[in-house]
Formats: sequence, C-alpha cells, structure tokens
Amino acid sequence: MNALPEGLARTARGWDEAAEGYEAYYVPRFAPWVATAVAAVTGVPLPDGPVLVPCCGTFPELDALAAALPGRGLTGIDLSAGMVGLAHGRAAGRPGVTVEQGDASTLDPRWTGRCAAVVSVFGLQQLPEPDAAVASWAAALRPGGVLSVVFWPRHTEDEGPFALISSLVPGGGDDTWQDRLAPALAAADAVVERDEPLAHPMSHPDAATFFDAHTRDGPMRPLATARGEAFTARLRAEFVRRSPSGEVRHRPSARHLVARRTDRPA
Ligand SMILES: C[S@@+](CC[C@H](N)C(=O)[O-])C[C@H]1O[C@@H](n2cnc3c(N)ncnc32)[C@H](O)[C@@H]1O
Repeated sequence: MNALPEGLARTARGWDEAAEGYEAYYVPRFAPWVATAVAAVTGVPLPDGPVLVPCCGTFPELDALAAALPGRGLTGIDLSAGMVGLAHGRAAGRPGVTVEQGDASTLDPRWTGRCAAVVSVFGLQQLPEPDAAVASWAAALRPGGVLSVVFWPRHTEDEGPFALISSLVPGGGDDTWQDRLAPALAAADAVVERDEPLAHPMSHPDAATFFDAHTRDGPMRPLATARGEAFTARLRAEFVRRSPSGEVRHRPSARHLVARRTDRPA
C-alpha cells in the first residue's frame, strides 16, 4: 500500500493496536447489527458477481455471507494491517475469499460495475467523506446489485455509555454528510429501499470495563494515544463517576441503508 495521508495513517495505527481487543470485546456485541446487514443481501435476488465488504475489520460478516452465498467470491477491504491479519485468519481455507489492505473510501476502478453486493458495518462514519464513499460503493454494483450499509450516526442514544462518552469528548466534526447519503446514492443510480434506525441491546460488565474497551480496543484508541495517559485517566475517572455502578445495559441505535442499483448499465 502507498504511504497514507496522516489522518488515515493515524486511523490505521489505532485499529492496528486495537485489533485483537476489538475482536474479543466488540465483535460479539456487534453481531446483531452484522447479521441484519448481511441478511439484507442474502435474502433477496442478486445478480452474478462477487460481494465486497469495505471496512471489514476482522471480517465478522464472513461466516454468514459464506453460508448464505456459497460459491460467491467474497472480498474484505480494510485499512489496518492488524485487522487484515485477523481477517486473513478468518478467511483461511475458504476458496474464493480474499482480504485486501487499502483505503475503502474510493474503491479501485477494477470493482466498478462488477459486484453483486456491497456490505459494510460500522466503517462508513470513520471515513473522511462518507457520502463520496457510499457513491463509490454503489458504483461497484452491477445493475440489480444491492448495497447494505450499517453505520453509527452522530446521535446513537439519549442516555447510555455511548451518549456519555460523546458528551465528555468535545468536538466530533461536521456530520452534515449524514443528510447527503441518500442524494449521493441517487446520483450513483441506486434506489434506496430501506433507510431506518437499527437498535439492539448491548451490555458491559461495568462502566470502567466499557471505557477501557472503547479507548483501548475501539474507536477512541487514536484519541487516547494522541492525548496521552494523564488525559485518558482523567476522562476515565469522570466517565466512571457519572455512570451508574454495576452492569451497564443500553440500546444504541445505528442507521441501516439498503439500496439497489438500477438497471441502467454502468
Ligand atoms: C468498527 S470497525 C468495523 C469492522 C467490521 N466491519 C465489524 O463490523 O466488526 C471499523 C473498521 O473500519 C476500518 N477503516 C477505517 N477507515 C478505513 C478506510 N479509510 N478504509 C478501509 N477501512 C477503514 C478500520 O480499520 C476498522 O477495521
């Protein structure tokens, strides 16, 4: 892979460091969202062609895709070498399954108009220009192909650990891209068939365990590394102080978009 711009390189490093912990802590907790994202492309007619999984991480989408679509080519793409290493482990011994390390923001032109489906879970919100990325993913579809994308919107819950941690960490950037996804898909000749919240229950042994997972094994790893131990320790103390004691249960809501490429040729 060519040298990455600093922002992407920081994201990649964060996920490299988090990969094993992410697989252990988050993959089981995110399984219901992955199942819904995959079901949207397996329970419907698809054209010929491979299935692409941008931002595959450790590739938890793989088992259900391979079971439901035997014989299809399945390719995961992820920026992080650490994630790709674990994804290779999951793909080992399965013919037709490949994993590539790379930036999934703009897909390589060799995918254009080739794929039966594109499935992506919890990667879109991390990309620099999510609306441009989703258009690039739609352009990879053949006519009749289906895109199923699950992502975290800015607001995931009114109360709970996701809401609390967001309130304690200032910033967060521009989230107007969320309103540009459906127009970007329309411009890429994809008709949105589903655009809905997708909430599932999740639990954590206690607030401190959640905080440690989120900052060591999850999306806040780059921030914790950049700001250092003292900052992270202060944030942890404040997070735990404001959290209920004991097991933490919540029901965060993601957004699920399903779109089908129209019959106009690519
Ligand atoms: C929260 S994980 C989700 C992984 C997997 N889809 C799942 O559901 O468990 C987000 C993944 O997006 C990847 N990612 C972030 N930015 C990316 C980019 N520009 N291109 C490809 N992958 C990216 C990260 O490396 C990480 O593995």
